[in-house]
Amino acid sequence: MAIERTFSIIKPDATARNLTGAVNAVIEKAGLRIVAQKRIRMTKEQAETFYAVHKSRPFFGELVEFMTSGPVVVQVLEGENAVAKYRDVMGATDPSKAADGTIRKLYAKSIGENSAHGSDAPETAAIEIAQFFSGNEIVG
Ligand code: PPS
Repeated sequence: MAIERTFSIIKPDATARNLTGAVNAVIEKAGLRIVAQKRIRMTKEQAETFYAVHKSRPFFGELVEFMTSGPVVVQVLEGENAVAKYRDVMGATDPSKAADGTIRKLYAKSIGENSAHGSDAPETAAIEIAQFFSGNEIVG
């Protein structure tokens, strides 16, 4: 199977509780390699662009407000089947439905404050990675 990259965000609810290392431990234990990582404060414009696909959903304003409420850690993860694998490692969007051992089951507070984001397809991953990283910041 081909080596793939996915985009990840450790969300403000997790950074606020000092869980960056704990989340990274789950990522690495699953066999995904963190090939780029930086801690940033997302601007409103960045969050609105990133979540533009959800613009018409009732929670859009709340989602943008949350994602700009504190630091996030943006990452590029690399590995076999990385997009699908990281979705599995994160668990369901709603932590009450997430499987045992997943990031969201372990750490998420609610469907909104759910600790992690991962791209939903390789094409989306490429777009999301390009929004936050230049090529020379990714070291495989
Ligand atoms: S997904 O991953 O696209 O299938 O999930 P989805 O349910 O469509 O949710 C998309 C993102 O919106 C966030 N979300 C919410 N935020 C605030 N309030 C409510 N009620 C809510 N429902 C969903 C969810 O965490 C997803 O964020 P990302 O960063 O994409 O995981």
